[in-house]
Amino acid sequence: MTVRLRPPAPADLAALGRVAYETGFFGGSAARYFPDRRLFALLWVWPYLHGAGGPGCRIAEDKHGQVLGYVLGSADPVRYRAALAQAGVLGLLASVGGEVRRPLACWGYLARLGRWGSPHASEELYPAHLHINLLPAARGLGLGRTLLTAHLDALRAAGVPGVQLSTTAENGAALRLYRRCGFEVLARQPTDLWRPWLGRTTEHLTLGLRL
Ligand SMILES: CC(C)(COP(=O)(O)OP(=O)(O)OC[C@H]1O[C@@H](n2cnc3c(N)ncnc32)[C@H](O)[C@@H]1OP(=O)(O)O)[C@@H](O)C(=O)NCCC(=O)NCCS
Repeated sequence: MTVRLRPPAPADLAALGRVAYETGFFGGSAARYFPDRRLFALLWVWPYLHGAGGPGCRIAEDKHGQVLGYVLGSADPVRYRAALAQAGVLGLLASVGGEVRRPLACWGYLARLGRWGSPHASEELYPAHLHINLLPAARGLGLGRTLLTAHLDALRAAGVPGVQLSTTAENGAALRLYRRCGFEVLARQPTDLWRPWLGRTTEHLTLGLRL
């Protein structure tokens, strides 16, 4: 498969939001627990395109310009929180304005996230965080490794001292990729966040890499 990597731009929101949504439930669709795709994109992608995006954010596209996946992250927790708060306000306004599908279900999930959120590692040691997601057709071909390596190289070049990320015990391919790139488990915590949809308790894992 011919793949091109490029930095993302605000105009990529819909395409990146689609990837985030289609992969947001352990690699499957987040539609199961979050009815509104645009609100999902606003909260999980928009901040990286509007002020919080750090070095090494990349989109992977095929030869027709179709987005296959991305690595997105921020190296500045303060900027990230500010952009996320802005996205939250926009999402709230859209919900009140009737533009969000089944808003109570969406905000109910966000409340669960507040209750069952993943543990975080020290922001001093690991100020950066990242997300990496590929559509099913682009998995298992080495693209995850290519994207993650490019991202880590850019963080190193920018002098960022460490990066952390959250995943779960369910994400076998992701765990293997992270360990291969040198990440270590820094914290683990049982979570019932997805119990209504997964049918069981799982485990949040926080991984970190000193750069
Ligand atoms: C996780 C993900 C980014 C990995 O990217 P990828 O391109 O599929 O992975 P690669 O082909 O680069 O392989 C990386 C490593 O994972 C292994 N791997 C790939 N698919 C695997 C699978 N289904 N199960 C177990 N290991 C797997 C590869 O063998 C390789 O390990 P190796 O170097 O020891 O051989 C991608 O599968 C994905 O987007 N999955 C769905 C979304 C997701 O889980 N994102 C992470 C959320 S924390």
